[in-house]
Amino acid sequence: MKITIINGSPKARGSASELIIKAFQSKLGPNAECTVCHAALWAGPKVVETATMSDAIVLVFPLYVDSIPSHLLRLLDTQGGALSAAAPGAKVYAVVNNGFYEGRQNAVALEILRNFCARYGLTWGQGLGVGAGGVITAVPMDSWPLRPLDKALDDFADAVAKGAIGEDVFITSNLPRFVYQLSAHSEWRKLAKKHGLTTKQLYQRPAK
Ligand SMILES: Cc1cc2nc3c(=O)[nH]c(=O)nc-3n(C[C@H](O)[C@H](O)[C@H](O)COP(=O)(O)O)c2cc1C
Repeated sequence: MKITIINGSPKARGSASELIIKAFQSKLGPNAECTVCHAALWAGPKVVETATMSDAIVLVFPLYVDSIPSHLLRLLDTQGGALSAAAPGAKVYAVVNNGFYEGRQNAVALEILRNFCARYGLTWGQGLGVGAGGVITAVPMDSWPLRPLDKALDDFADAVAKGAIGEDVFITSNLPRFVYQLSAHSEWRKLAKKHGLTTKQLYQRPAK
């Protein structure tokens, strides 16, 4: 089974998307032949060439402004027709992770991808929306806070391997919402300090 995975994070390395891809790949059986394309680093035609005759195309990317990061959107927009001609039987799957706590925030981005598939005659498989994306780069994938993601990726990999079509699934971390929020605030304060800003300055409004 040929699977083309498209990493849609603009980060060259160390992204939550990259960790999700690694975990997803580890859950596929030995019959899966996977290639990972980095949308921010690869030219569109090279992605299409790699995806030729794929059985599945799996997009893994962060949510940007309730939607798809612009470089990935451009890739889909400019290469959609070529992608569909190169891999006419492929099913399209997606894992979208976001910074807010709730995985359901990713519903609109998944809807956009369903419309993309309808426009270019590709078959939509299934989407997975993952909330609290900040946890993914902070703790190991097999630890308690990420257990829902680990379990969801088991089912997702199984669906991709079987070529199954399913309802979108939305999950978040086992961490309570308030703990996630507190640690996010603490990280932002540390980042601000590193860049010479005080916490008070973070809340400053621009002069009218
Ligand atoms: C420009 C920009 C826009 C973002 N928009 C959203 C958003 O609308 N909703 C949200 O929950 N997170 C948003 N985020 C947070 C990212 O989705 C989040 O940090 C994600 O875990 C990054 O994944 P990555 O490491 O795979 O790139 C945004 C981040 C950036 C930089």
